[in-house]
Amino acid sequence: MKKRGIAGILAGMMLLSIACGNEEEKKPEEPTAAVTQAVDPGEPTSTPEPTKEEASTPKPTSTPEPTEVVEEEIPALQSVFSEHEMKVGTCLTTQMIEKDFLADIIKKNFNSVTMENSMKPDYILDKAESIEAGDLVVEFNTDIVKMLDFARENNMEVRGHTIIWHSQTPKWIFHENFDTNAPFVTREVMLARMESYIKQVFEKLDEYGYTDLFYAYDVVNEAWMEDGKIREEMNYWYQIIGEDYLWYAFYYADKYAPESIALYYNDYNEQYKTDALLKFVDTLVNEEGNYLIDGIGLQAHLYTGDDMNTYLNTVERLGATGLMVELTELDVSLGTWQNKLMDTDENLRTQGKYYYELIEGLFKLAEEGKVKMDALTFWGFADGLSWRKDASPLLYDTLYMPKYALYGALQIKEKAGY
Ligand code: GLA
Repeated sequence: MKKRGIAGILAGMMLLSIACGNEEEKKPEEPTAAVTQAVDPGEPTSTPEPTKEEASTPKPTSTPEPTEVVEEEIPALQSVFSEHEMKVGTCLTTQMIEKDFLADIIKKNFNSVTMENSMKPDYILDKAESIEAGDLVVEFNTDIVKMLDFARENNMEVRGHTIIWHSQTPKWIFHENFDTNAPFVTREVMLARMESYIKQVFEKLDEYGYTDLFYAYDVVNEAWMEDGKIREEMNYWYQIIGEDYLWYAFYYADKYAPESIALYYNDYNEQYKTDALLKFVDTLVNEEGNYLIDGIGLQAHLYTGDDMNTYLNTVERLGATGLMVELTELDVSLGTWQNKLMDTDENLRTQGKYYYELIEGLFKLAEEGKVKMDALTFWGFADGLSWRKDASPLLYDTLYMPKYALYGALQIKEKAGY
């Protein structure tokens, strides 16, 4: 068992054609009417949350080339973040690396990547092989291999995303004989399947020779609600095992992951569930009181209307646990979730300033030793490729031209919209 060094915690247990996501949008506040979505098994499925709306994303087709190249004079994000000893990342799809001009933007700016979809449970759990083996079987497809090779060739590190989640997870894994017409398995069988699944994820990395690329892994994604309760709806891990599925997930990950991969809990609307997250991570300790977890991942799907002080306060409070804190899926949409705004010059300037102040605030918290943050990941880089493209949340526009937002992220204040 790994020793993670943080002890003393009370025991307890264009160009919209290359989609960076094909999912629903999350919206903060007011967890009211629950939305139950029908799941299309072949596609990245929606993340069923209370208060989310559809973001229909066209299927990837062809991508026109950008008309102008303006990259040369602009500094690289990674050089700015490395001054603060942080990696900076983007989510990644195969379509992004197959287009040279997109791959060039990625290679220039980022030294960390997260598979946007390809390493989610839907894509790594093999039904036919599981039936044959009588146990869950993990397989890596060619997309994963392609993207991990790209990362290695370009000296990038990788955040693993994600193992235990209620969404984009095949339902057959919860049933006897892996047959959705059969009853759910018992708690004991599900725990055994969970252990085997988690063990195989890390074994596969090793088998393919990729272990050294990974610095972090999201062990569990999105288990808590804004009202401080555990997610129940469509959360079959919880429904079958009970609330301690969370503890077991981290217990097994801690048991099988190499020391070099930091284990994360990842969630959204973090500024509205901070108390629940603080309470939760304190339960993730072993018998000696050492954390089974290394870090808290904050998805950071934000809006320009979100209060900056509230957000930075959340980062500071979570940082006070002594665990690492990473922003794992940052994008800043225009407006609020109730009222998205058009991409007018004024609104884009507001966004540029928002990125500037957010990242300035994070660098400051890290410098003051208030938070241990070794990486920040943007959920893409160009608006046309974003799951939230209707709200223009990223750093480059749909023509791959830099926005105020990029300069904000680069901490170049005079070009960030001020
Ligand atoms: C969540 C997940 C991500 C992704 C986004 C939408 O934040 O953690 O993997 O699915 O939703 O793109």
